[in-house]
Amino acid sequence: MIYYGIEIWDIIFKKLIGSIKLNITKIKNLKKKSSQEFNFKKKISILKSIITDPKLRHSAKYNLMLAYKRRLLEESGVRIINPMSLASFDDLDLQLSRAAYVRGNTTYLEMMCILGLTKKYVTNGKNFLEIGTFDGNLTRNISINLDSNSKIITIDLPEDSDPKNLLDSDNSLIEMDRRKKKKHLGLSNVEQVYGDSTKIDFSRFDFNGAFIDGGHDFETVRLDTINILKNINKPGFIAWHDYAMETDVEEVISSLYYDYDICYVEGTNMVVLELN
Ligand SMILES: C[S@@+](CC[C@H](N)C(=O)[O-])C[C@H]1O[C@@H](n2cnc3c(N)ncnc32)[C@H](O)[C@@H]1O
Repeated sequence: MIYYGIEIWDIIFKKLIGSIKLNITKIKNLKKKSSQEFNFKKKISILKSIITDPKLRHSAKYNLMLAYKRRLLEESGVRIINPMSLASFDDLDLQLSRAAYVRGNTTYLEMMCILGLTKKYVTNGKNFLEIGTFDGNLTRNISINLDSNSKIITIDLPEDSDPKNLLDSDNSLIEMDRRKKKKHLGLSNVEQVYGDSTKIDFSRFDFNGAFIDGGHDFETVRLDTINILKNINKPGFIAWHDYAMETDVEEVISSLYYDYDICYVEGTNMVVLELN
């Protein structure tokens, strides 16, 4: 047994937190989760509060997150794929510009996966749709990799909107000054749409690639997913961010994997669906 390593946290996870009860129902009928289910965050924070040593608490948080991810992938049935299988990266001519990784952004690996899929499905004349612009880090990097007759449409809440999402983690991003300093300003192939994604009619958008990374509460992810699935052109792809991070994204994905071949991309917090 490795003390405070993944094994012991896996055992603690199993004993105290139990198994993951995903609500596997068709997405149309999917109801809000019951308070008994999916309350790992609360249990994890109770566990952390018992551990007073800050270093140990940090390690506990990290290892519990890994244990959660491991168990989720074992129990959800979502297929795991290697990021390199998403595109022929050896032959791709990709550019990066002002790419950064701060809280709220994709990691560099996640960005590369999205760019690889974009090159594959969002060919000249086709478009990409992003829900959740934030500071435009991904928007800018997709924009500069698109062919001349393509564009990226990106949706975010208006810059002066009050944070009133259900989750504190979403609200803190909405409030950040960084969100107002968008990196894609001045790029002619970016269409910035301001509004609440759950209230927008997606039939007005023409797109073959989509990234769902707006509000992370169950209802928002559910509606964004339904609207994208209804309106995306084929062949195309959808990527969801913040999977396996103790968010409601997991629950929405669990309702879809029977009908769609949704895959978890190893080394990321992202699941993808390729539609052919
Ligand atoms: C995690 S950030 C997006 C990060 C960005 N995709 C990137 O890769 O850098 C989430 C963004 O979604 C926006 N957001 C939250 N709820 C939303 C909603 N209901 N409609 C539109 N945007 C929303 C927030 O304002 C925030 O800027």
